[in-house]
Parts: sequence; structure tokens; C-alpha cells
Amino acid sequence: IQPISIGQAESRKQLAGPTGKCFCLYPADLQLPAEPRPHITESDFTSTVLFLKRMEIAGLGHCKFIDRPDPAGLMQALEELDYLAALDNDGNLSEMGIIMSEFPLEPQMAKTVLASCEFDCVSEVVIIAAMLAAPVCFMVPSMAVKPEATLGHMKFLHPEGDHFTCINVYKAFKQCQRDSGCDVQKWCRDHYLNYTALLTADALCTELIDTLRRIELPVSTPAFGSRSNTVNIKRALLAGFFMQVARDVDGSGNYFILTNKHVAQIHPGSLYGAKSPKLGLPEWILYHKHSFSEDNCLRTITHITPQEFIQMVPQYFFYNLPSSESKDLLQHILNHKLSQEQKRRPGTSDEDPQEEQTSDRCVIQ
Ligand SMILES: *[C@@H]1O[C@H](CO)[C@@H](O)[C@H](O)[C@H]1NC(C)=O
Ligand SMILES: *[C@@H]1O[C@H](CO)[C@@H](O)[C@H](O)[C@H]1NC(C)=O
Repeated sequence: IQPISIGQAESRKQLAGPTGKCFCLYPADLQLPAEPRPHITESDFTSTVLFLKRMEIAGLGHCKFIDRPDPAGLMQALEELDYLAALDNDGNLSEMGIIMSEFPLEPQMAKTVLASCEFDCVSEVVIIAAMLAAPVCFMVPSMAVKPEATLGHMKFLHPEGDHFTCINVYKAFKQCQRDSGCDVQKWCRDHYLNYTALLTADALCTELIDTLRRIELPVSTPAFGSRSNTVNIKRALLAGFFMQVARDVDGSGNYFILTNKHVAQIHPGSLYGAKSPKLGLPEWILYHKHSFSEDNCLRTITHITPQEFIQMVPQYFFYNLPSSESKDLLQHILNHKLSQEQKRRPGTSDEDPQEEQTSDRCVIQ
């Protein structure tokens, strides 16, 4: 949370109009900065750092930025890349980091796409990546038709969460494109979907698949809907977004974010959140974005289990999490898992050979 500039304060006052009220949550004599802070000092810097590292711009600490990013922000970006295994011990890009930088995606999503190669769900994860990188395709019309639009969107609702709903939308869109009797633009209007946004997602999807082929990574055959595919998509998402997990501690809809101990709510635009009051909100979720300074909401959420989280989280990230009741709970699950593994170890003969094979094929952590 940072002071706004004089210009920003003025424009907010004007937004309230001559009859509105504008409450200023700072003392009247506070000296506000004249100019807004440059965007680079406030935005998530991790993608930029990955790019700069790829360009072999060494020694970011000495780099001459026009506006120097916040040192704490730069440190956090490097830390995140390290947790994603994108850096080696010298702080240079690892092999994983180099491959990640090939994708026009945020580093967490690039990691998820790579993990999907290991978990045989590339076809599905690439759609999620493209839909989330493209502009939001769900249109939010005026209040009058809003219930109708929500009803239209609910047709695509997937019980596992918003990431899966994105796949349903994309697949229905492609189906209409293929179907000669289907007028795509009209179909989009009827379902309150943004045609331009979906075209962008489609183009991105093609680009991602081309990138995978170029660097000779396997593209799985589609398997959306099967139980194992669902579990695998969640694993791939967790491999990239293990830093973006939250828990509803008391069933009140207030989600505790494990990494920074903030409490946030599910965004009203989340279809998964919108259906949940009736079916009950999930305890553990993975989210794609936390818009902290805007509305403190979690956007694009999917239900996960603590066991799935423990399976995918890098150990040193887990141990660095600040203490909390939720961490204790996870620790308990981890201890149980470790003791189970210890029990199994003497009799190596009954180990699942298939599992061994999987970890050989493409090791991501
Ligand atoms: C790491 O990067 C620095 C600066 O580019 C370079 O001098 C050094 O040789 C690199 N280390 C390795 C192990 O590649
Ligand atoms: C659809 O999305 C595009 C961005 O791709 C945006 O510019 C446009 O305003 C949106 N259209 C509607 C009707 O919301």
C-alpha cells in the first residue's frame, strides 16, 4: 500500500462528480508526490527479470534502469524464479529457466506448461494458458441483462474450477467454428462471450503449440474429462502456481493466502465462486491472480486438496512459508506421507514401476 500522487487524488475526486462524496484516507496536510510512481516499481517484475536474464543482461543490481525497480521487488522476483527452479546456483538461468523464457507467458504459467509435458496434459494446459493470457472472454453487460449473461456463462461451468471452465468455453467455441451451421459471432453474442478475446486465445494457443513443437517437447493427445486428466491438470497447475494457494480457514469465504498471510475473497466474476454458495466453498484453492490494491480479490480459482499441494510443492519453499495453522496442517500431512514412504522403502520390490518410469521421462523439479 503506497501513497497516491496529487494527480491521482484529483482524478478520483472528479470521478465522484459534483454531487458525489470522495473520502480521503490520509491527513489533509500530507505531502503527496506530484507524479504517480512509475509502473515498474509496483508491478510484478518476475517476467521482466526472466527476460533480462535471458538477454544475458548480467548483474541486474548494477543495471541502469530509467526507473529503478524497488529493490525488494527485484529480490522477490529473483526468489520466485529460484523457487520455480529457473535459476542455477550462480543465479544464472538454469536449463529449465531457458526453456521457460521461450514461452510468451508469465514464468509460473510457463512452468505449468512444461510440467504438463511430464503429466501428459499439454493439450488442456495450453488452452488454459492461452485463455488466461488473452483478454477476459466473459462479457459483463449492463445490470438489466446481467442475470441472463451469468446464466449463459454457467453452461460452461466445470465442477473443478475456473481453469477447467476456460477449457469448456474454448472447446465449445472451436466446435462452433468447425460446425458449418454455426455462426460463430452470433454464438458468442448469444453466450455473452467476447469474440475478439476468443480469437486472441485461439491464436495464442496455436503459438504455444508451435513453440512446444519447435523445442521438441511432446504434445499429448486430448483427454479432457477423464479422471486422470483432471488430476494431472491440477498437478501441472500446482507445479507453476504453488506460490498462489489459499485456504478458507473457517468456511466463511475469507481465504488465507499461505505465502503472505493476507486474507482475500473470491472475485464476484468467478463462475466457480458464484455457484459455490449453494454447494459450499472449497477449503483449499489455487488462484491465478490476487488483485491486492484493486479489490483484494482472488481471480480464476480451482479447487485443490492439501495432499495435491504437498505432492507438488518444492520442499524448501514449503519450509520457508511463514508459520500458520494451515502450514501446521500441511506439515502433518507431509510427516504422514514421509513415514508411509519410509515404511515402504525396505521392500523395494513392491514399488510401482510405472511411477518410476514417469519420473525418468521428464524431470521438472
Ligand atoms: C553466470 O553468468 C555470468 C555473467 O553472465 C558469467 O560470467 C558466468 O560464467 C555464468 N556462470 C555459469 C556457470 O554459466
Ligand atoms: C472484447 O475484448 C476486446 C479485447 O480483446 C476489447 O477491446 C473489447 O472492448 C471487448 N468487447 C466487448 C464488447 O466487451
